[in-house]
Amino acid sequence: MNHGGHDWKPEQARKSLKRLLPELEAEFSTRLEPVAFDWHRFKNRLHREWERLFSYLHELYGWQYDFHYTLERILRSLIESWLERPEDLRRLDERREAEPEWFQSQEMVGIVLYVDLFSDQLAKLKDNIPYFKKLGLTYLHLMPLFVSPHGENDGGYAVSDYRSINPDLGTMQELEEVAAVLRDEGISLVLDFVFNHTSDEHQWALRAKSGDPDYMGFYFTFPDRELPDQFQRYLRDIFPEVRAGSFTWNEQLQRWVWTTFNSYQWDLNYANAEVFRAMAEEMLFLANRGVEVLRLDAVAFLWKRLGTDCENQPEAHTTIRAFNALARIAAPAMLFKSEAIVHPNEVIRYVHPDECQLSYNPLLMSLLWEALATQDVRLLDHSMRTRYRLAAGCAWVNYLRCHDDIGWTFDDDDARSIGIDPASHRRFLNQFYTGEFPGSYARGKKFQENALTGDVRVSGTLSSLAGLEEALERDDSELIERAVRRITLLMGIQVSIGGLPLLYAGDEYGMINDYTYLHDPRKVNDSRWVHRCRKRWEAKEDLADLDTIEWRFFRETAKLFNLRKQLPALYNGGMEVVETGNPHLFAFLRAHAEQRLLVVTNFSETDQQLHPRFVVPWVPGGEALDHLTGTRITVADGLMLEHHRAVWLEV
Ligand code: GLC
Ligand code: GLC
Repeated sequence: MNHGGHDWKPEQARKSLKRLLPELEAEFSTRLEPVAFDWHRFKNRLHREWERLFSYLHELYGWQYDFHYTLERILRSLIESWLERPEDLRRLDERREAEPEWFQSQEMVGIVLYVDLFSDQLAKLKDNIPYFKKLGLTYLHLMPLFVSPHGENDGGYAVSDYRSINPDLGTMQELEEVAAVLRDEGISLVLDFVFNHTSDEHQWALRAKSGDPDYMGFYFTFPDRELPDQFQRYLRDIFPEVRAGSFTWNEQLQRWVWTTFNSYQWDLNYANAEVFRAMAEEMLFLANRGVEVLRLDAVAFLWKRLGTDCENQPEAHTTIRAFNALARIAAPAMLFKSEAIVHPNEVIRYVHPDECQLSYNPLLMSLLWEALATQDVRLLDHSMRTRYRLAAGCAWVNYLRCHDDIGWTFDDDDARSIGIDPASHRRFLNQFYTGEFPGSYARGKKFQENALTGDVRVSGTLSSLAGLEEALERDDSELIERAVRRITLLMGIQVSIGGLPLLYAGDEYGMINDYTYLHDPRKVNDSRWVHRCRKRWEAKEDLADLDTIEWRFFRETAKLFNLRKQLPALYNGGMEVVETGNPHLFAFLRAHAEQRLLVVTNFSETDQQLHPRFVVPWVPGGEALDHLTGTRITVADGLMLEHHRAVWLEV
């Protein structure tokens, strides 16, 4: 609303804070006195962020008659959670505020793992810190570890209680201890905020099932098919092999419930201000346990609007921004990472200092696999040229594999612009990575084939997709060598292209697919379990045979990760794709702090030449140091790159 060109919101924002704050200060006075100095800082942040918080909340809930009450409850929660914030985390807040770009450093390197699969229990995770240190890790994402249903629970993504740890893994106190130990070691703890849905066993869902109208309002429930049918026309099925449609009939309620993912994952209704407030409290609770990066799960689905596909709605962004403002005020050390595995135009909209400072980079991930299969870098080159840049103060999280499937999320017009038919290309990629394509080395599994649309995605570990499983089975050293090179090629790009590289635990030692899920009734319908392996390998020098394939990978991974840390040019920031004149060679330039690196990579199964015309101009002296091998290279005659090899030239 705009009254004669005058924006009334800032003024109203100030007014409501002026009304609310003194009352709350009086109410909390005895608890505020001992922390007067910190409280002063808190208030500065509150004043700094309040206008935008007010305006987001107004956009979402301003039309509701009790908006002032909403504001008051949220502000109260904010103060309470800040008061409970442990002293060492408040000091961390200070440090991070003084150094807001900490996560952009080339020193940042991450890993993601399941506690049960990796160390059985939380308490035992600490014993693995030396292992993390060898890899140079500074960022540790623990997959969902909260209480969740005993049977199927979508790998923990159906949360029954955001404040308790699954007893099989440990306790909340142990989590806090782990966080503190990691912090001392310079490793940031990352957890999921599964905030699009709860499990159907969450207290809120149980109360809703018992007919409590307040809690029924936490979810979307419908007495008949009228509205569900209207919505359904535009929705896509996320797990089409498991069931069709986004609604589940609940016997107890005698109503349909909105369940975008599995039938036991109930979507939360963010149009209800109480849901926002309740989830804000859960978020701030997690922040106070020592979480430094919160992975916002399934952000795209947060807001529903009839007549749309209910993905990436503007209010989804507003909701996240409102959470962001709360975090900036009460737990400024904590950042958000967005998990939006959608069209690249949409992915990028979640990435902003006021929204998610970090984001998965699904486009780079899928196009690296695409280029590996086709041995042709044109789509990768084109897409990275036009789509890599992010707002200042943000960074990509670059990954090759994660716990989920691979979907081919490139833009159709990008593909067409270089003469690729998107639909048949996706079909080819699926066939290639599931090993159906003649001559393919990949051992992926189909994930969630949609009988209606023909869509399908791919599961499988990095190594199995890159040919190692097949090569080992055939016991063929030449094939093993090829697979190893393919993997190191991808990893080398992941650590150098700009952003935070995130390793999927197990990939550092060449973990191959685990087919035991086929015998587990709780997993058999979800092929993602093929790459969520229970197998463990430990880098124990004293016991191990240092010539094993595991050691070979481990050394390569540790080398790449540690080399990255020594090169200031790899600080997050500018990345320029560089022309190579050869469709098999992908090259880019990184520059920072007086250092420039030219990275050239060969995606072909054969050796390739970079013509002098494309390299000489970068290397005025005619000779440059290749950081990957530590040798100096002459470029006057161009560059010969063996298959799947790369150079990192200092230019
Ligand atoms: C995210 C998770 C995925 C899960 C889904 C539902 O996409 O990565 O594993 O199935 O959300 O929570
Ligand atoms: C879809 C969703 C993504 C989720 C995935 C689970 O791709 O967009 O959020 O992680 O399904 O497989």
